Amino acid sequence: MTDSKSTGRPNKRLLYRRDLLRFGAGAIAGAGAVALGRSQNLSQAEPQLANSRSFDVEGDRALGARAAAKGILYGAAVRRSNLFEDTAFAARFVQECRMLVPERAMKWQALRPSLDKFDFEGADQLVDFATQHDLKLRGHTLVWHQSLPDWFAEQVTRQNAEQVLVNHIQTVAGHYAGKMHSWDVVNEAIQPKEGKPDGFRNSPWLQLLGQDYVELAFRVAAEADPDAMLLYNDYSLDYDTAEDETKRNAVLRLLERLKSREVPVHALGLQAHLDGQDSRQFNPVQMQRFLREVADLGLKIFVTELDVEDQRLPANIEQRDRIVAAAYEDYLSAVLAEPAVIAVLTWGLSDRYSWLSDYKPRDDGMPVRPLPLDADLQPKLAWNAIARVFDQAAQR
Ligand code: XIL
Repeated sequence: MTDSKSTGRPNKRLLYRRDLLRFGAGAIAGAGAVALGRSQNLSQAEPQLANSRSFDVEGDRALGARAAAKGILYGAAVRRSNLFEDTAFAARFVQECRMLVPERAMKWQALRPSLDKFDFEGADQLVDFATQHDLKLRGHTLVWHQSLPDWFAEQVTRQNAEQVLVNHIQTVAGHYAGKMHSWDVVNEAIQPKEGKPDGFRNSPWLQLLGQDYVELAFRVAAEADPDAMLLYNDYSLDYDTAEDETKRNAVLRLLERLKSREVPVHALGLQAHLDGQDSRQFNPVQMQRFLREVADLGLKIFVTELDVEDQRLPANIEQRDRIVAAAYEDYLSAVLAEPAVIAVLTWGLSDRYSWLSDYKPRDDGMPVRPLPLDADLQPKLAWNAIARVFDQAAQR
């Protein structure tokens, strides 16, 4: 359990800095000054982690605490190995977050070694970690066209697809029943540019079961875990572009249909993988109108996978961080103006571990900086921007 394994860094004594986050409400995103307070030097990470909340001297300054003060949940996605092989990262995770979502561990590829088997080992470890550290849990994701195991294409047919889907949801949602705050039941079912009726994505699930798979998935999930909030989750809902507008409309129609049929869907998840590039348009008024329409259906809204891509932003780090922070601030301040928005999750916490390092690397080879903490686990301007938005948000 050292951080040297996963990061290649020397195994320093763990600096557990619950009290370093001294800047906040009044700070200016552009100023860039990050004042660090005294830090606690803990040599035994594990026992301390287990009791972390109890010695949370200034934990009220962490993002999770600031959000919680307004009735908003803040958390992040995490990979199992990053939590269990990097204690410094794990400590920061517990410090900042009030909610954990497995980045990979609850996807089909992770849970389903074969058609007739489930392997909960990795996911269970994350659930135990969350329970131990008083973090709420989000499940991600029961139905998706990606992260399907290799056996899927060959072994799932029109004949058995419904039974396979129902069995998966019953078993997985049933296994974690009572422990989950919420589940992403269906992920990314809409993609109007694929030309299918009602803007449906031409996913294996659509091909195997038709549009009804969405409704079926929600009904089975609600039966398996009646306590969890059930989400429809999707991306490209954020910008003032023709593409995103078409997608917003298609998602809204889907949610309307589900609600009119009394399908147990409780919230919309906005993935919010943002692009720091200026050319992408964000229109707060348009976004708020969309969120109001969603809320008028009786749905809550979560920001589920927030990060800001910096692939094509200037190399200069100060400049880049300012643009990324501004994107966080513009987006979150607009979105949190809608009272139905009750949770914000970033897709990762620290630039040390971001899916964008692989998915959207920079041409100049410089590391990407899309998340609230830098690769040394220190707060960036993005952290500052998020903190300020939470501080200014209305009470839920
Ligand atoms: C990504 C993870 O971050 C990667 O580590 C994984 O290899 C592929 O999936 N939308 C989603 C997430 O709903 O599940 C994706 O996560 C990112 C895009």
